[in-house]
Amino acid sequence: MKHYLTLEDIPNLQQAVDQVIGLKKDAYASEHLGKHKTLGMLFFNPSLRTRLSTQKAAQHLGLKTMVMNFSNEAWALEFEDGTKMSGLRSEHIKEAAAVVSQYCDIVAIRAFASLSDKLKDEEEQVLHNFARYASIPVINMESATAHPLQALADAVTIQEHNVKKRPKIVLTWAPHPKALPHAVGNSFTRMAQQLEADFVIAQPEGYELNPAITKNTPLYYNQEEALKDADFVYAKNWCSYSDYGKILRTDDEWMLTAEKMELTNRAKFMHCLPIRRNVVVSDQVLDHPNALVIEQANNRTYAAQWVLKQLLENG
Ligand code: CP
Repeated sequence: MKHYLTLEDIPNLQQAVDQVIGLKKDAYASEHLGKHKTLGMLFFNPSLRTRLSTQKAAQHLGLKTMVMNFSNEAWALEFEDGTKMSGLRSEHIKEAAAVVSQYCDIVAIRAFASLSDKLKDEEEQVLHNFARYASIPVINMESATAHPLQALADAVTIQEHNVKKRPKIVLTWAPHPKALPHAVGNSFTRMAQQLEADFVIAQPEGYELNPAITKNTPLYYNQEEALKDADFVYAKNWCSYSDYGKILRTDDEWMLTAEKMELTNRAKFMHCLPIRRNVVVSDQVLDHPNALVIEQANNRTYAAQWVLKQLLENG
């Protein structure tokens, strides 16, 4: 693995999940690997879990970390080639990525979607240009279209709680007052498609994820029908993909409630966090013993540790 930009960079997901679970038994077993090495963490957007879990993972491996809130602490970056930089952007990505590569051995980047320009978001301008111009491995800490650290942690959480040969997993859209990106929904979909599971997605009309990602995953427009007999329910909001960046409805008909969870096979409830209580999901669902959200957050550390370990071992 040269970089960790998408879930597809993992050669064998099942093997990775088993190895992440193995890491949890002795988190400091490879503390020597990162000795005298540095992980740079560049944030263009806020974070709680990704920032702390990745730093914790680095500690387990003996790595030092340098963290920078790039959007308000660094020079504004130019990404276009051959441009005359006479405007507000002071530093070109070519120099910025090369310079970061002098101080760090691995760089991790969080750069969300703009949700205003679909083509630009799908180009993954920040992440891909760092990967292009840096001379060190790059990790995606959530980009415009993908959140592969979250998806790996979610695969681990499902495996740890699954009691069936072929569980039913439902990814359901849920309401939110702000337009949110598709990254978590995309990466969860790509991950769940690889599991031995019956995976379906439920969303209202107009909220279908990118068809190039959902492919032949069954799509339901009736949430209650989709939830029937589910073993895992993953709730997440995202804005419209077809009417890019738009919020098409603001009612709470799709909020996940205890009554809806009654339709499931006593399903485990999952969400990547942060979550808006009584908007996305009711208190009763989130406070129920079947909610796995804190375990998902804990598994973020070991998912990040597995990725860092692969990159360190590759030299
Ligand atoms: N799930 C997740 O990535 O959380 P943060 O945005 O707090 O990092």
